[in-house]
Amino acid sequence: MTVRIGVIGTGAIGRDHARRINHVLGGAKIVALSDVNKASAEAVRQDIAPDAKVYDTGEELIASSDVDAVLVTSWGATHEQYVLAAIAAGKPCFCEKPLATTADGAKRIVDAEVSHGKRLVQVGFMRRYDAGYVALKQAVDSKIGAPIMVHAAHRNPTVPEQYVTPMAIHDTLIHEIDVFRWLLNDDYVSARVLFPRSSARSHAKLKDPQIVILETAKGTIINVEVFVNCHYGYDIQCEVVGEDGIARLPEPMAIQMRLGAKLQNEILTDWKDRFIASYDVELQDFIHAAAKGTASGPTSWDGYVAAITSDACVTAQDSEGDAVAINLPTRPSLYN
Ligand SMILES: NC(=O)c1ccc[n+]([C@@H]2O[C@H](COP(=O)([O-])OP(=O)(O)OC[C@H]3O[C@@H](n4cnc5c(N)ncnc54)[C@H](O)[C@@H]3O)[C@@H](O)[C@H]2O)c1
Repeated sequence: MTVRIGVIGTGAIGRDHARRINHVLGGAKIVALSDVNKASAEAVRQDIAPDAKVYDTGEELIASSDVDAVLVTSWGATHEQYVLAAIAAGKPCFCEKPLATTADGAKRIVDAEVSHGKRLVQVGFMRRYDAGYVALKQAVDSKIGAPIMVHAAHRNPTVPEQYVTPMAIHDTLIHEIDVFRWLLNDDYVSARVLFPRSSARSHAKLKDPQIVILETAKGTIINVEVFVNCHYGYDIQCEVVGEDGIARLPEPMAIQMRLGAKLQNEILTDWKDRFIASYDVELQDFIHAAAKGTASGPTSWDGYVAAITSDACVTAQDSEGDAVAINLPTRPSLYN
């Protein structure tokens, strides 16, 4: 079966996902496109999906009998309405992060999917599909003993002036928030945020770097440095300290050079290059599940927990180092 996919939001990531579905992956085809900027959808049709139809609205695209499954890659604030419409239509839906911009919005999606009675939503937390994180999880699950601590860092070379302190959580840390729950098979109970002095490269409305400390239900302490003006590169670090040993996320493959009396490896500077292969794997997973009328991978529940945790971290940014409790509702059995 070829899954007929409609894309809502044909900006940077929507265009790139359309390219991988039509030119890289198997089992699916882009048949429909929609964007509030119609010219953007037309351009993707012309460049990538000449047989696709451009729809005036996302709702019309979702309702079309030509569309089997939906990709929501529009701006974050519009995700909820489209995911809810896809669930109401009973169509599998891949939604880029965030699932919704509020925890209440994410909860409405969870409730709708639970009422539907079958998984339909996959959230775009692609790190779970990264070969390095998959290898790290195998080591954490079976080699290093029970996890005690995680030391991690999320560093970007630079961010624009519009990037303000809470965005370090909602836009940047959100990937760590999801991946550590998965990696440790655990949930968070509290968050703290500490600020060292701001870097000279930071902006007026951005405290950078910051250190987020998450405590889990099993008592593991995670400390993540978020440093978005680190200047030297895009660098994701993760080390899990277990009872019997330590496991580290592998560095991205890079040629080692002996050059100019130095032993050196290049460090990436663009986040898009760091997880490029994982986007292919996550969407292929979506296509396989969509062909069976369902979804796999990161769930609406994971998107909801990420939203609750993000909110707690943002509250903790203003709590002068005090811990903010993270209270999760009971997980519906659909997500066990
Ligand atoms: N998983 C990841 O690593 C990753 C990477 C990049 C972006 N994202 C997420 O993907 C989403 C899109 O990001 P982007 O970088 O492609 O942004 P973008 O601004 O390049 O593209 C978004 C597109 O959505 C369109 N749009 C806005 N409102 C709409 C609406 N109501 N209906 C239909 N289209 C609408 C815009 O016109 C634009 O073309 C964001 O939520 C972002 O957080 C995730």
